[in-house]
Amino acid sequence: MNRHAYPGPDPSVFRLRPGDPLRYRPVAADSLCHTPFGELRLHRYPARRDEPLQAWCAADLLLLDEVHRLHVPPRQTLVVNDEHGALSVALRPLALWTDSALTRHALRRNLEENPGPDVPVTWSTAEPQTIPALVVLRIPKQLPYLEYQLAILARRLQPGSTVIAAGMDKHLSPRVAELLEQYIGPTLRHRGQRKARLFSASRDQRAAAPGATLSRYYCDPLAAELQALPNCFSRDRLDGGSRLLLAQLRGIEPVSTLLDLACGNGVLGLAAFGMGLAQELVFADESAMAVASARLNASALFPSDSGAFSYWHGDGLADYAGPPLPLILLNPPFHLNHAVDDYAGRRLLEHCARHLRPGGHLYVVANQHLDYGPTLRRHFTRVEKLARDRRFVVWRAQRG
Ligand SMILES: C[S@@+](CC[C@H](N)C(=O)[O-])C[C@H]1O[C@@H](n2cnc3c(N)ncnc32)[C@H](O)[C@@H]1O
Repeated sequence: MNRHAYPGPDPSVFRLRPGDPLRYRPVAADSLCHTPFGELRLHRYPARRDEPLQAWCAADLLLLDEVHRLHVPPRQTLVVNDEHGALSVALRPLALWTDSALTRHALRRNLEENPGPDVPVTWSTAEPQTIPALVVLRIPKQLPYLEYQLAILARRLQPGSTVIAAGMDKHLSPRVAELLEQYIGPTLRHRGQRKARLFSASRDQRAAAPGATLSRYYCDPLAAELQALPNCFSRDRLDGGSRLLLAQLRGIEPVSTLLDLACGNGVLGLAAFGMGLAQELVFADESAMAVASARLNASALFPSDSGAFSYWHGDGLADYAGPPLPLILLNPPFHLNHAVDDYAGRRLLEHCARHLRPGGHLYVVANQHLDYGPTLRRHFTRVEKLARDRRFVVWRAQRG
């Protein structure tokens, strides 16, 4: 085998070690980001050992160049959907408007490393207190969520204000310019650079279009309708993995407290609660809109049980201080940002192992191509496959 042929997906990221032709190791990415506002030390959150990916991308740099070109003074912007804090650390905006608890962790860490004024966070489920004349927006993956944000901005922005928006070409929907035009006003699609694209839209007098609101679908295993806010996972249909996991719930011993980790709209926990599997139910997710959707559904489906439910918006169970748990249900994320990746899921399995009480059980469903077996066997004593179909596998793991 040619030892200089790289078996990894991206030769600029993975380096083959001499004498080790079949294995490659990540080369830690440079953390020094050169921006028109100075050099910043930036880290991703969560970060792996020798993290191969940078904490910023070309779309962030396009936005920073544009703000610099416009000569906007500090604290005169609103940043929306920053990923790891590159925009907020450089611009020190009035606020960061985001859905993600992971982003807030990244921001906190990167603000500590690059001292300066603090940046308050406004969650996606609320509206920013003040909206200045320049909004700096990373285009999110979910278009209904973009529409939701644009509708709020359109209602609150003064005519003459500007929204600059950017994303990486491979993640951009062809509808972005049309949506900016529809909600905000005349829109320019600027020249692309380093596989990223910048748009700018000037708020004019046009009437604000109503934004995307709640999605709904009838969930047959629950025999009820579920609702979800625009950035919630599987807003309008039951996920195939969740369906397979739901089919395994019958026969589980009832417990005092059940945790629905990475809860999305709360479908797993609500089904288990409806079957009498727990007296108390904790919903946890890193997305503010997921937690809010689970709350909406819990109140709609079980209006007289509100005292039985609690909610945790955070990075898995990283800062969770509740008592050890007898039962956790988990349909973990299989993406890290835009790439299919099992790292996000493996971290959550480790969190479960730390927070289950001895003898407690984890039921987890995963895509067949993400093999959680080794991680489960490392952290749990009894691990078994309960069910599988063409795409998913359900595991039960017991803490020793
Ligand atoms: C595959 S979805 C499952 C949603 C829901 N349980 C279901 O079955 O439909 C994964 C969920 O994990 C959440 N998530 C991703 N990373 C997380 C983290 N570090 N901590 C908590 N939740 C996370 C996402 O927001 C998403 O709601």
